[in-house]
Amino acid sequence: MKELRTRVAIVGAGPAGLLLGQLLERDGIDNIVMEHRSREYVERRVRAGVIEYGIANLIEEAGAGERMRRDGLVHHGVEFRFERNSYRVALSELADGRAITVYGQQEVVKDLVALRLERGSPIMFDTEVTALDGLASDAPSVQAQGPEGDVRIICDYVAGCDGSFGVSNRALPTSSVRRYERTYPFSWLGILAEAPPRTEELIYCRHANGFALYSMRSPTLSRLYLGVAPDERLENWSDGRIWEELNARLATDEMPEISQGPIVERGITAMRSIVIAPMRHGRLLLAGDAAHIVPPTGAKGMNLALADVRLLAQALVARLKEHDDSLLDSYSNTCLERVWRGEEFSNYMTQMLHPNPHDDFENGVQMARLRQAVTSREATTVLSRNYVDLNSL
Ligand code: PHB
Repeated sequence: MKELRTRVAIVGAGPAGLLLGQLLERDGIDNIVMEHRSREYVERRVRAGVIEYGIANLIEEAGAGERMRRDGLVHHGVEFRFERNSYRVALSELADGRAITVYGQQEVVKDLVALRLERGSPIMFDTEVTALDGLASDAPSVQAQGPEGDVRIICDYVAGCDGSFGVSNRALPTSSVRRYERTYPFSWLGILAEAPPRTEELIYCRHANGFALYSMRSPTLSRLYLGVAPDERLENWSDGRIWEELNARLATDEMPEISQGPIVERGITAMRSIVIAPMRHGRLLLAGDAAHIVPPTGAKGMNLALADVRLLAQALVARLKEHDDSLLDSYSNTCLERVWRGEEFSNYMTQMLHPNPHDDFENGVQMARLRQAVTSREATTVLSRNYVDLNSL
């Protein structure tokens, strides 16, 4: 078996693993990124596309922001719709001038992969990590199988950036780990359509039929979602039915129709919340979806992940360059406090916008919360600050 040596073995080439690699490299710390999927797969995986103010700055500071700054859409507000009325939340006005950037997650991944390849830093695609060993010792290692056979990577630390179904999650000792979990009784059906967005800002909509979201990726690409039953199947949704339902939910008197176009991508996503604590086990440090999942309603998933990495990179640099353990020792607690704020916000947005067909008391509470969210300056301010920059506040 081939043996390699590095300081930090990074499992997973999503935004978290790739940004960690980039930040470490800029501080002169060797690392190897392993990803069990192909490069094409990770670069095409369509996910959310809202980047917080502080996280956009982090991407730029890491040297990966050029295309995001050029092609990303900067939004200063967001719209809420219910009962055929529309309410604009002036995000930037209420959040000290800060704004969000709409830029797809897979674009962030493409930018980071390109940077890494340009520098010739090791990144192994199509490589499955089969075991994490010696996590409680000071010489952990990672075993993996790739196109060139089996490898063992001996390292100082392992960064688990491989999502909630990854090997890092399976390596956690069940006896000392707590999993906090919630499954929501709906899923999102998402489409990407070649249609110029009808509005300049995102629209979150609550309708008796269910949730809808109008988002976008560029001046010619719209990204739209429908809240559907948790066990809903894609086969049940013809293009015609999707558009009809989007129109029914999103319609207002001023905008009775949305622009339609060929659907180039579609999928159904279940909605869950998960928190795993602690986020560190010996030499294994978790970041992003490997440690926490949020429902997509607040667009917090990637932002939480990259904020973990911002701290993890600092902590590893302090440890490996200055023998200072303090940031690594507090990594999990510091992250979890922020992660729970992200869970709270995602839960708040989710609960407020998804009607429950079997619980009219719940629906009454939701409507009260939604009205307050768009009419009370205090409530709107909290919402705006959390939406725009939760991970840097
Ligand atoms: C998206 O553009 O894909 C998107 C935007 C906002 C969300 C979730 C997804 O809350």
